[in-house]
Amino acid sequence: MKIIGTGSALPEKVVTNEMLASFLETSDEWISTRTGIKTRRLLSHETLIDLGVEAGKKAMAASGLQGSDIDYLICSNVANTYVTPSISSIILSQIGCKCPCLDVNCACTGFIYALDIAEAFHKAKKYKNILIICTESPSRYCNWHERETSVLFGDGAGAVVVTDGDNFVDSIVTGDSHTDVLYYKRTMEFTPFDRAEERTTSLVMQGREVFKLAVRSCTRDIRTILERNNMKPEDFQYFLLHQANLRIIDSIRENMKQPVEKFPTNLQKYGNTSSASIPIMIDEMSRANMFEDGANLLLSAFGGGFVTGAAIMKWEKINYND
Ligand code: ACO
Repeated sequence: MKIIGTGSALPEKVVTNEMLASFLETSDEWISTRTGIKTRRLLSHETLIDLGVEAGKKAMAASGLQGSDIDYLICSNVANTYVTPSISSIILSQIGCKCPCLDVNCACTGFIYALDIAEAFHKAKKYKNILIICTESPSRYCNWHERETSVLFGDGAGAVVVTDGDNFVDSIVTGDSHTDVLYYKRTMEFTPFDRAEERTTSLVMQGREVFKLAVRSCTRDIRTILERNNMKPEDFQYFLLHQANLRIIDSIRENMKQPVEKFPTNLQKYGNTSSASIPIMIDEMSRANMFEDGANLLLSAFGGGFVTGAAIMKWEKINYND
């Protein structure tokens, strides 16, 4: 399998730390030093579906494939207004595809889980051209009266098209139950038979616990995938990590004993865009011609669950005509 097209889409509205400080008890100084985030893009007039559709169309255009060429669509998303039908089936109808479609909800690790599933389909020779779209709006499940969570996130979408090839080297995914450190709970409809008390709880996060779990699990995953492929950190041009917090990325980088330049970031501009953060970064870096042809890239992410994953791929340049 290899990536032959990338795309991304971001909301128009730019929200600075200073703007947040006008209605929350926070400051640019606190947010910048604790997280690295300076601005984020938040949905205003667009929808989550619009972002996913735009990113998916750009990835297909870059791949040279039409909607009718796509054999399978995988969408990664944590929450949206529809519970059913799936977000992948809603997006499917707007990008000209007519193929099986599947949602994955693996929090911020969704892109790596989707790659892992796509690779398994490929190895089984079931589907050839697979479109992966990660579209996320964490701004819609934070409580905007709570400074602890709302300052951390941004909305956005990233997409890739994969097809036959041998550039995808390996992936691993893990699950380890720590459901209490990060969750968002919604109520369901009333029934006269079930009297369980329920209420919607906006995103709850034990920040320090998540921080420690993130550093520990990403370091472990990177070491595991390196070891089983007989590779060293020095073999990689870039480590593309989930963009949650600059200090988390820095701690993992220190564990890998690698220079800062190998750990690109976009969280300063976009905040934590959940599973979209890595594909947005891949799209922007690929379009800026930053990946050397044949370069080894290592991806690693963590997310609520706790679920984590890592992947290794060899880059092959993509020609963008737009
Ligand atoms: N502005 C000002 N003060 C704040 C803010 C804010 N936005 N948020 C919290 N505080 C206060 C708290 O009330 C607390 O005050 P207190 O000490 O008087 O009780 C204090 O700041 C907490 O400070 P620290 O404990 O020093 O904060 P820390 O260094 O742990 O940083 C942070 C907090 C940024 C949340 C960090 O723990 C973190 O990044 N954790 C990981 C978060 C993460 O990755 N989430 C991803 C979730 S989704 C996903 O991607 C899987």
